[in-house]
Formats: sequence, C-alpha cells, structure tokens
Amino acid sequence: MSVDPDQETKELTAREQAVTDEAVASFDASASVRYREVMQSLVRHLHSFAREVRLTQAEWEQGIEFLTRTGHITTDKRQEFILLSDVLGLSMLTVGINAPASAGATESTVFGPFFVEGAPEVPLGGDIARGAKGTPCYVAGTVRSTDGTPVPGARIEVWEADEDGFYDVQYEGDRSAGRGWLRAGDEGEYRFWSVQPSPYPVPQDGPVGELLTAAGRGAMRPAHLHFKVDAPGYRTLITHIFVAGDPYLDRDVVFGVKDSLVVDVVTEPPGTAPDGSQQDGPWARVTFDIVLATQQKENE
Ligand code: BEZ
Ligand code: FE
Repeated sequence: MSVDPDQETKELTAREQAVTDEAVASFDASASVRYREVMQSLVRHLHSFAREVRLTQAEWEQGIEFLTRTGHITTDKRQEFILLSDVLGLSMLTVGINAPASAGATESTVFGPFFVEGAPEVPLGGDIARGAKGTPCYVAGTVRSTDGTPVPGARIEVWEADEDGFYDVQYEGDRSAGRGWLRAGDEGEYRFWSVQPSPYPVPQDGPVGELLTAAGRGAMRPAHLHFKVDAPGYRTLITHIFVAGDPYLDRDVVFGVKDSLVVDVVTEPPGTAPDGSQQDGPWARVTFDIVLATQQKENE
C-alpha cells in the first residue's frame, strides 16, 4: 500500500501542533493573568522556533548543556545570564520597550553584569576610582527633571572598568575600586573624580565567549562609564556615557550605544582642575547633564 506524502506531512504537523496546544493550555489556570500571558507566549514562540529550524535532538542537548554551563559559571560576582541576554540583543530590546515616554529625558542603556550592591558612598566631588588604574577623569553635571527643575539629593551611582579594561570584581580578592555613589547637591549639581573610561572586551572565558567565537563576532564594548540615578518621584535611570571618537562605537557587542549618550572627554595638561586640585599629570574632564523622567502612576 503506497503512503500519501501530503497526508504524512499533514499528520506530522497536526501532531506537532497538538503538543504545542497542550503545553500552552497547561498554563490556563495560572493565578496571575500576566504570568499566563507571558508563559503561553513564551511556549508558543519556543515551539515555533524549534519547528522553524527543525531542531535536532543533538542541538537540543547542546542548548541544554550551554544553559547549564551558563548557570554553573554564574556567581554573585559574575552574571553570565545577563551577558547572554546582552549579546543576544534582548537586554537592549527590553530597554527600548520600557523606555520612558517623556521627551527630553536621558536615554537608558544596558545594565550589564558588573553592578555590585553595597558600593561605598563618596562625598560630592570625591573620588570613585579609589585605586583603579587610569588617567584621572573629572565628571560633572546636573540632575534635572524634564521641565528643567533641579533634583537635589538625587542618588548617583557609577561604576567602570580600569584602564586595563577590568572591573574590580574581575580581579582576585575583594577590593572595591572604580565604583561608588554620591548625592547631587542643592541645585542638582554633581561632580566626582573617576578614571578615563577605556574600551574592553566582555568576558570570553565562558559559554558566551564560545558563542561569540562560533559566530565570528567581536567581543568589544566601547569605552563607557555606567550610571544608575534614583530620586523619589522619578524613574530610575540606568545608562552610560560613551566616549566620542571611540573606535567601537558602531560595533558594541551588546548593541548599547545611543548617539545622545556619546560625550566629549577632553584631555588636559597637568595643572589646576575645576575643583582647584593640582594635577601632576594629564587628566581628563567630561560634562554630563542628566534629565530624569517623572515616575508614571500605576495606571498610566
Ligand atoms: C558592561 O558594560 O559592564 C557590560 C555590559 C554588557 C555585557 C558585558 C559588560
Ligand atoms: Fe561596562
């Protein structure tokens, strides 16, 4: 008896669809409507991905093994899952989806895996480098709302890699350097010393590094300094400043660059800095004015 190939394909498709339908329906009774929406959509998209590429058993195993290693290498100091999300562009997509509606607010970018809770407070005008290697860099600006009102007392947290491209947490030991937080002054003004940001590669010694190599992709991030700015009544801003002229601005491995965040970092000869301090060697300075979006009410 001959087999009708069209009929076979139809039966196969129906069997595949039945698995998807059953898996989707298994979330019907979720207590939270949002949870049900997100999970059912995730299942549908995962299944359609597997159908589209005709995922082999070996590829499925490779994927499970990759995610298992991503989990095993993740610690409280190294977040390989965030890095994976970053290099897949998912982090920047999520940033874009959640961008504040307010025109004029400073744009957001990726959080990255190197934020550490409990960084030290530094006074206004203090030094967040605290031993991180690099050319001293004076960073100053204001924190305002979109209508121009200063935001006194805004909490500004910053973190950055040293001139060798490493964050403190990438070194042996528990030394904290290149990170800290301060409060804006009465007019929303802020200033601190740091080190001039340098470009650096994202960690390549884990599964995400293998992914980049397999794809023939570079691993570099353009030079940047991270900011997290909080103030009551305003949306938390997570962003960076990027250094104008950096060769990696158009090929950031995590797709994080936005033109509005690219700033001039000016190198100055030895001499007197804006805070009156004497600098024995070259130093750099940068101005970055921050505009916060107001917090939206729950139902807006
Ligand atoms: C960072 O800028 O710290 C970073 C962001 C995404 C991936 C890796 C590092
Ligand atoms: Fe960074």
